[in-house]
Amino acid sequence: MLGKDLLGLRDLSGDTIMEILTVAREMKKKIDDPNLRDNTLNKSSIITLFYENSTRTKTSFMLAGAYLGGIVQDLGVTTSSVNKGESLIDTGLNLDKMGVKFMIMRHQMTGASAVLARNVKACVINAGDGTNEHPTQALLDMYTIYDYLGGFKGLKVVILGDISHSRVARSNAFGLVKLGAEVTLAGPSTLISGSMKALGVKVTSDIKGAIADADVVMGLRVQFERQKNMPFPNTREYSTLYGINSSLLQYAKKDALVMHPGPVNRGVEFSTDVIDGKNSVINIQVKNGVAVRMAILKLLYEANPDLA
Ligand code: CP
Repeated sequence: MLGKDLLGLRDLSGDTIMEILTVAREMKKKIDDPNLRDNTLNKSSIITLFYENSTRTKTSFMLAGAYLGGIVQDLGVTTSSVNKGESLIDTGLNLDKMGVKFMIMRHQMTGASAVLARNVKACVINAGDGTNEHPTQALLDMYTIYDYLGGFKGLKVVILGDISHSRVARSNAFGLVKLGAEVTLAGPSTLISGSMKALGVKVTSDIKGAIADADVVMGLRVQFERQKNMPFPNTREYSTLYGINSSLLQYAKKDALVMHPGPVNRGVEFSTDVIDGKNSVINIQVKNGVAVRMAILKLLYEANPDLA
């Protein structure tokens, strides 16, 4: 069962993860059929606070809230009083006073969501904090795997690319390992650390070996904006040595799922024919993101009846 906030998958039980995925399956029907949308959230106020850019996460949370009868507003951080120096905690306290029930935040600082959650009455949902966690992305990834492959036990999941900057990789590792998947993190040695083994995963720079017989091949964007020094000579070299094209994909299982959280650097982490190919579920992940975020809002609402 969820508590007041959703900050990461590190502290979520396998049972709670499965509860979210089960509810998401119900929620998904509401995306295509407006007649099934309802007033689950009883006009609760939902605010998105994105200190970093987003297309998928912010929009899908805003739609998820609207589909369940919430009142949804984006703070618009770049035009807010954050730019006049107002602190995160003061921003949160002001929103609390306005009766906001859900604060959905993305922030460049690891731990920012936890700081906000400790200081406000509202439920805080972490939409990505620094290089720490992006729990709702991992949950939608897990939902997609669950939908296609029926479970997690013994599945071979390979997560490839810029591991060291990836909150998506960390959240997926926490969640997938808990549910019994065999997770391998693969990428150039400059973008991966052996310390990641502490998450219960394998770590390698051997891309071909990593994807051999894989059930899921998940690519990650090279996060140029987080890098102080270029970790490889150029993107052409990266795609040659570490990118996945259709020839390399043949080493995975025939029906392996090709996944990516987006946005994709086409031709860098995956070739275009892989992104648009028959194994790709990248666009399905986006749709599942709305369903999973609806499930999270519903479950948090039910777990916190005392909030205004
Ligand atoms: N996957 C993801 O977090 O995408 P956005 O940055 O567009 O939200």
